[in-house]
Amino acid sequence: MSGPLILAVESSCDETGIAVIEGGRRILANVVASQVAMHAASGGIVPEVAARAHLRWVVPVLDAACADAGIAWSDLDAVAVTYGPGLAGSLLVGLNFAKALAWVHGLPFVGVNHLEGHVYAAWLRDPDEADRPEPVFPLVALVVSGGHTFLVEMRDHLTYELLGSTVDDAAGEAFDKVGRLLGLGYPGGPAIGRAAESATACDIAFPRAWLPGTYDFSFSGLKTAARRIVETARTEAGIAGDPTAPLPGAVVAELAWGFQASVVDVLATKTIRAAREAGARSIVVGGGVAANTALRARLAADADALGIPLIVPRPGLCTDNGAMIGAAGARRFAAGERAALDLDARPSLPLATRR
Ligand code: KG4
Ligand code: ZN
Repeated sequence: MSGPLILAVESSCDETGIAVIEGGRRILANVVASQVAMHAASGGIVPEVAARAHLRWVVPVLDAACADAGIAWSDLDAVAVTYGPGLAGSLLVGLNFAKALAWVHGLPFVGVNHLEGHVYAAWLRDPDEADRPEPVFPLVALVVSGGHTFLVEMRDHLTYELLGSTVDDAAGEAFDKVGRLLGLGYPGGPAIGRAAESATACDIAFPRAWLPGTYDFSFSGLKTAARRIVETARTEAGIAGDPTAPLPGAVVAELAWGFQASVVDVLATKTIRAAREAGARSIVVGGGVAANTALRARLAADADALGIPLIVPRPGLCTDNGAMIGAAGARRFAAGERAALDLDARPSLPLATRR
């Protein structure tokens, strides 16, 4: 395979990721140092702690990525980096590091929107993987992460039309908050997914905010309902007065299942409707919540019924990583885009505007 060889740096949140990507698709190296265990102790991300952890890990991660890729600096065509959206302190570490690399090695420099990276993860393939189908335009992409939840339509590379987005919490944020309510620790998303596997139904109705006539999402009502449901379950279990007492495992599993079913139902229903109404030829899903087994299974079944190919990266490429930044960066590089070395971090950088 040919095409540009891109070194990509991601540090927008709590993963330090550096990857080497060939031709916008093939992963030659993809090293991720996760801070999850560190943030679990505080029950969430403390921005300054996250920034300092990037500072600690960025060089070892680069060394590991270079060793994995087995390339020389002279082989590289460009350095790509996430410049937003994300936590300012976290972004600054990766951005400044990538600038220094581009400057020292005289390489072109490309700024990438983190959310575009989540979309472009759908183009990635592992080195030993047989060529996998590429997403075809027009497509509808669902991005579901810890900070964002939205649907975009793409009629071509690097162009996005916003179909709808969350009006309050992101889906991942709701998973994390409800995970905490259920005593599952941080991050709640993977923990809820695992807990829900021990249940097959839930007797309690978790609400679904359909926001009819829009592709928008809302998860704050569901979060409030979940709090009330958990309080009732604690009263019924006779532990309402003891905040440290855990709910019985079977109850946690059932409530995790019910909550997850609500989120999955709304995300899948709106994505499939958007794909049908847009006349999409493929459906792409990305972001940490796309690692969720129930969401993947439901979307696969619904897309199959609709006859539209669904492309969801493997779970490790749904959560934050450098490879996805390399995939998007390669497209921008091929389109002739170059960023100046005074590029600033943009914590609230948007991806798309509403039509
Ligand atoms: O994309 P990501 O790694 O970081 C952001 O850009 O935000 O997404 C992280 C989010 C967290 O809220 C996490 O709980 C959620 O993705 N997540 C999951 C799963 N794995 C990660 N949510 C549900 N099920 C999962 N398996
Ligand atoms: Zn992300």
